[in-house]
Amino acid sequence: MPDLNAVRLITRKRDGHALEADDIAALVRAYTDGAVPDYQMAAFLMAAFLRGLDATETTALTRAMLHSGTVLDLSDVPGVKVDKHSTGGVGDKVSLVLAPLVAACGVPVPMISGRGLGHTGGTLDKLEAIPGFRTDLSIPEYRDVLERTGAVLIGQTAEIAPADGLLYALRDVTGTVESIPLIAASILSKKLAEGIDALVLDVKTGRGAFMKSQADARQLGATLCRVGRQFGTPTVALLTQMDVPLGRAIGNGPETAEAIQLLRGQTPAGGPCPDVLEVTIALAGEMLHLGDAASSPQEGRRLATAALEDGPAFGAFQEIVEAQGGDLGALENPDSLMGKPVAVLEAETAGFVADVDPLALGYAAVDLGAGRATKEADVDHKAGFVLNKRPGERVEDGEPLAWIYASDPARADLEAVRSAFVLESREAGAANAPSAPRPLVLDRFDGETWETRSGE
Ligand code: URA
Repeated sequence: MPDLNAVRLITRKRDGHALEADDIAALVRAYTDGAVPDYQMAAFLMAAFLRGLDATETTALTRAMLHSGTVLDLSDVPGVKVDKHSTGGVGDKVSLVLAPLVAACGVPVPMISGRGLGHTGGTLDKLEAIPGFRTDLSIPEYRDVLERTGAVLIGQTAEIAPADGLLYALRDVTGTVESIPLIAASILSKKLAEGIDALVLDVKTGRGAFMKSQADARQLGATLCRVGRQFGTPTVALLTQMDVPLGRAIGNGPETAEAIQLLRGQTPAGGPCPDVLEVTIALAGEMLHLGDAASSPQEGRRLATAALEDGPAFGAFQEIVEAQGGDLGALENPDSLMGKPVAVLEAETAGFVADVDPLALGYAAVDLGAGRATKEADVDHKAGFVLNKRPGERVEDGEPLAWIYASDPARADLEAVRSAFVLESREAGAANAPSAPRPLVLDRFDGETWETRSGE
């Protein structure tokens, strides 16, 4: 293998050339070993972001990141192991409900997740809102929890896809997130390293997603399915809508509290969240089908709906939390994860909510402390919002639109939250009221064909 010349690779990519697989592997290895500094890797990422990576380069980057650490073999754990990954949204706490739900239906879920990225939250930060919850399990601990509880949720370690851990943190703070090949390599490297037999992807599209257009989201879904299958892992993608926040809570503690309430069959703080349940059940249906627990995704959805209603999903979550060191008391008192609101955003007029912008709320949550402005920053697990009103809902003058939570009340910026809301004075349901929301699950890709439900 030739000596690595990082500057040569950066300039070749900057000038729009395709790189050799060996060069990509050498660059990723050197960066993971600390031989290439952040500033050169950031320059490479920006060149790749702007120039793109072709299919061969994307596969090579995925392979290099996958083999930056141990690739686990879970073949001795009984069952077809299936995971899901979301490309990132605002208010997306689905993994917290889904992993125990699918485990309760008999399909093991080994899950390696990420932290907050850009304006989106990350499953690890959400789980760590539960006092004591450890996402840094060793590999023997990871296996043990999976075998005992049917699911385990951890982050990349120095052993599993460490290159993704490093690159993810660098992309978060260098404006290089919204790239199809970089997202695909990031997701698949950690997912393929965790020992799964099949994968379901929640590819988000809309204002609050990294892929704003459905065309880009479909391309991301197709890239993920193609590369996943190249590595021998059956991969299915659902395209889901991210034009408004998912559910009512945004931010780590608030979202974890909402997920707990949904698992317990309770109504979350701000009100019902049928959208979170709809996406969760759709993904669970696919996972149970791929995991051989259901004869079709439809049958999988029926099984998942029953498990959520009857309580075994919450039981599975309790076992996972206990096995990963989390405080079970938090599951009894989910509101303790966010504390008391430090501010309330009130409507300045009566009417109905015509729109809630997820991107504005995602950035406001980061500014409030729920995300990171630099790689080294800590997150405030209590920080975030709970929406009392969602699009289409009626609001009275002075009624709360949203509650704001934070450890540091001085960081609450009511105007930033207000800017996400559009209120109109017309009656909901009147002729000129907003049209009915589009379906949440827009399309399905099974690796070969798109089944289009969105009509676009
Ligand atoms: N999720 C990931 O794991 N990586 C990305 O790059 C984006 C979303």
